[in-house]
Amino acid sequence: MARIIDGKAIAARLTGDLANEAGRFTDAIGSPPCLAVVLVGDDPASAVYVRNKGKTAEKIGFRSVQKVLPADTAETDLIAEIEALNGDPSVHGILVQLPLPDHIDESKIIELIAPEKDVDGFHPVNVGRLNAGEFDKAMIPCTPAGSVVLAKDTLGDDLSGKHVVVVGRSNIVGKPAAQLFLAEHCTITIAHSRTKDLPALVRTADIVIAAVGRPEMIKGDWIKPGATVVDVGINRIDAPEKGEGKTKLVGDVDFAEAADTAGAITPVPGGVGPMTIAMLMANTLKAAKRQCGLAD
Ligand code: GUN
Repeated sequence: MARIIDGKAIAARLTGDLANEAGRFTDAIGSPPCLAVVLVGDDPASAVYVRNKGKTAEKIGFRSVQKVLPADTAETDLIAEIEALNGDPSVHGILVQLPLPDHIDESKIIELIAPEKDVDGFHPVNVGRLNAGEFDKAMIPCTPAGSVVLAKDTLGDDLSGKHVVVVGRSNIVGKPAAQLFLAEHCTITIAHSRTKDLPALVRTADIVIAAVGRPEMIKGDWIKPGATVVDVGINRIDAPEKGEGKTKLVGDVDFAEAADTAGAITPVPGGVGPMTIAMLMANTLKAAKRQCGLAD
């Protein structure tokens, strides 16, 4: 039976440290680190994520600003909101919750966020800095950064030479995760929907990063015995066994099967999810320090 990687506990340790640092920041600067989250529309899952981000920020002594705009918000109005946040020196981090409604050009909005306030790390300037290995200036995407922390919790700080198979090639997770593990001196394979014989490929991985968004797609016999599995998927599926109309959250990995083979595995929920929020807080504090001329 695999070791269960307790993302909730690791995230709680990290946010505890960040709370102390936020206190020191506030003493030095006279006002707290501040994260602004913008939500357009009323997608229930996005609303929960945004609320949790705000709650965590306040719990650790940050200021939280939440801008909730109706689904039919004009692109020009969203642009005006972001320009106001860019120009407000008391706001250090800006996150626009994705996906945006279809009538809004997502890449145009992301490119408008000031790169130094882009706590998601999605702006092309930050993507470029990550790819160039300029970690002192870049903002690093939260979910991939959290995945590295979770892998290290089991394997230790030195991941060099490990073969990492990243399943999924999204800009939000797959591609930046590959870059981050590459920076840890791993050997990287990025697999996707056109990859041939995916089970055999995944079986060669020392570390599996599952980020495809398909419930329980990765099966137990795809996992090399002893491998470390980081499951990024958050999928809501029907759970008739819990009663009529009930649902549950599952990852991209068939947890019950994979837990028999893997050396260590993250659960869903309670793995990558809490780590993502913790890394967002870390990025906000980093952004605040950089903007106020304090050392990282
Ligand atoms: N939607 C799903 N994941 C994310 C994320 O990491 N950042 C933002 N802004 N939106 C998301």
